[in-house]
Amino acid sequence: MPEPIYMDSHATTPLDPRVLEAMMPYLTTHFGNAASSTHLFGERAKDAVDAARGQVADLIGCLAEEIIFTSGATESDNLAVKGVAYQYRDRGNHVITSAVEHHAVLDSCQALEKSGFDVTYLPVDKYGMVYPQQVKDAITDQTVLISLIYANGEVGTINPVTEVGEITEQYGILFHSDATQGIGKVESDVSKLKVDLMSLTAHKMYGPKGIGALYVRKKDPPIQLYPLLHGGGQENNVRSGTLNVPGIVGFGAACELCKQEMEEEAQRILALRAQLYYGLDKRIELVHLNGHPTQRLPGNLNLSFEFVESQSILSGLKGIALSSGSACNSDSVEPSYVLRAMGVKDELALGALRFGLGRYNTEAEVATVVEYVASQVARLRELSPLYEMAQGGNYEAAIPQNGEKS
Ligand SMILES: Cc1ncc(COP(=O)(O)O)c(C=O)c1O
Repeated sequence: MPEPIYMDSHATTPLDPRVLEAMMPYLTTHFGNAASSTHLFGERAKDAVDAARGQVADLIGCLAEEIIFTSGATESDNLAVKGVAYQYRDRGNHVITSAVEHHAVLDSCQALEKSGFDVTYLPVDKYGMVYPQQVKDAITDQTVLISLIYANGEVGTINPVTEVGEITEQYGILFHSDATQGIGKVESDVSKLKVDLMSLTAHKMYGPKGIGALYVRKKDPPIQLYPLLHGGGQENNVRSGTLNVPGIVGFGAACELCKQEMEEEAQRILALRAQLYYGLDKRIELVHLNGHPTQRLPGNLNLSFEFVESQSILSGLKGIALSSGSACNSDSVEPSYVLRAMGVKDELALGALRFGLGRYNTEAEVATVVEYVASQVARLRELSPLYEMAQGGNYEAAIPQNGEKS
């Protein structure tokens, strides 16, 4: 293979050169501390942070003062879940979330359980989706927070967040959504989604790593958060620490580009995904689509190949960056907890590959990926006694069936 191909955009995205250009002065000459308001260096930094806060707010349709900068979505999720639960502890001790959240939410909820909270982990359907009625049924008079992922980073499924937001509004319960994978890819306006808090991160949308944000509603009535970091009182006393000015500037630039280009980019990426899916489906038999057929992120394709393990496919394709699960779990040979929660059998979950198409992928790259993945699957199946058994007509004995046949 001549050039390595990156198709793992859910793990991270490359920095857009236009974002780097915006950041450069703040990595070099404009190095001031945004809190040092008595001199020009500090003023310049503060102006840049203010402008970037506006750009981030603009992408998600909120006020600039409703954005709290963090180190990324892990911190935003922790701040939302623990910050709300600790702040509003006198209102109740029950939190609702789903079984397919990112570990930043799941583990924050587990930490809450250790300090006396009750947490309901809602199951998902075979597509990885939670239904509004499930949320309604789980609410008790002790419920203080519902945290539901917007778009799943493994299978791309988009949850009915707006409908859940209507319920939380009706019951007066705070609603957080981890929208890390959706923002910049699909519409993520906070009023339309009806969320009170929302997590985002720059490195999934062609911005730099180590910078993210939490949207926190500031009206009707304003939400208070118990801070996780105490110190200099930055970010309205909610998140102390010297602001990462170059990161924030890059985040702002990345948001502005997404706002301008998102719709057109989604169409282009959808066409690439169709080329990839139909190309693979034509070349390989016994392929299963994981995740929702229509309600999914444009750049996400998650497929299980029967009779082969995704780790074996990937080990023969070092030049193509794909994932066998979420990045945090990719060293593990355990089936993904998301696929398990969706009821995908272990045999199929272990054969799952996640393709993450992004801004810089081309038709030529997709054609190469189809070619290499198809050849690798064919080669591995030739070595599989179970596949041979199935070919000989004893399919039922070779593998238990489930999942969506393509
Ligand atoms: C849904 C979701 N939430 C949170 C995170 C964590 O984001 P960060 O790397 O910015 O901490 C990720 C990253 O994989 C994610 O996909």
